[in-house]
Amino acid sequence: MSIDIRFADAPLGHEIRGVDLSQSIEDATFAEIEAAYDRYGVIVFRDQTLTPDQQIAFSKRFGPLDRYVLERYNLVTHPDIFVVSNVIENGKPIGLADAGRYWHTDMWVKPIPPRGSMLYALEVPVRDDGEPLGDTYFSSMSAAYDALPDWLRERIEGRKAVYSARKNVEYRIANAPVDPATGELSEEAKEGMRERLANMTPEITHALVKHHPRTGRKCIYYSEGAISHIIGLDEKTSDETLEALRQHVLQPRFIYRHRWRIGDLVMWDNCSCIHKATGDFDLPLRRRMHRTTLSASVAV
Ligand code: OGA
Ligand code: MN
Repeated sequence: MSIDIRFADAPLGHEIRGVDLSQSIEDATFAEIEAAYDRYGVIVFRDQTLTPDQQIAFSKRFGPLDRYVLERYNLVTHPDIFVVSNVIENGKPIGLADAGRYWHTDMWVKPIPPRGSMLYALEVPVRDDGEPLGDTYFSSMSAAYDALPDWLRERIEGRKAVYSARKNVEYRIANAPVDPATGELSEEAKEGMRERLANMTPEITHALVKHHPRTGRKCIYYSEGAISHIIGLDEKTSDETLEALRQHVLQPRFIYRHRWRIGDLVMWDNCSCIHKATGDFDLPLRRRMHRTTLSASVAV
């Protein structure tokens, strides 16, 4: 079988049609899906109905899985599934509400971050006028690399950046949506950030350009509000370079915006793209997603 791809108007975010992920997929079809995933960085499947076991089975076709570190957000019955949700049950959050409302790669806190993730939508917030909320944005870091102006490519090629957990938590607190009643970030949200900080290595270095471990393509490795400086550049040059890089990677021509529908499964590659949750909704509008994480393989 040759898979049917409906191309998005962006370098990534293409939809693969005609595949039922709840069934076991034959090897030849799987190989085409994996090739599309490696090549484009974000692929989308619509109208799926998946139990946790079925999502895990499909995820494991790509190799071993990683478990999210804060275990209370994983399904008790299926700890390979990490719940991304704002839903509160019996006074307790059933998942992590803010899985990243800033441009990021997942788990940059690890020396070798995961290959990618899969997010499956069970509940999607919808506004009164029918508009879905809680979109996720993706930007292609391989397309952004290819389009780098020479001066910026020369500036970052072969260089490493220092990522700071503290800087990131401060940035996220400063940019998080506030509680409309108090004008502040909720205590619970602050506590969640502090808890994550306690679980993070204070500093880690990453190459600014990585080779994709499966395609060999060069990708810009970048997260917003996380990099303290570029090693080997003076402070002013480092700050200017990071700002130029931010402006470069966030150009609309590299970006796909996913508007969620229940039953969507979106997979992203953690080397060839960055992503951002909008978080533009609140209870009583509910959002509930099941995430699996493909194990380590982003090139160092
Ligand atoms: C994630 C993530 C985005 C979203 O799960 O890593 O960034 O829209 N999610 O929930
Ligand atoms: Mn993420």
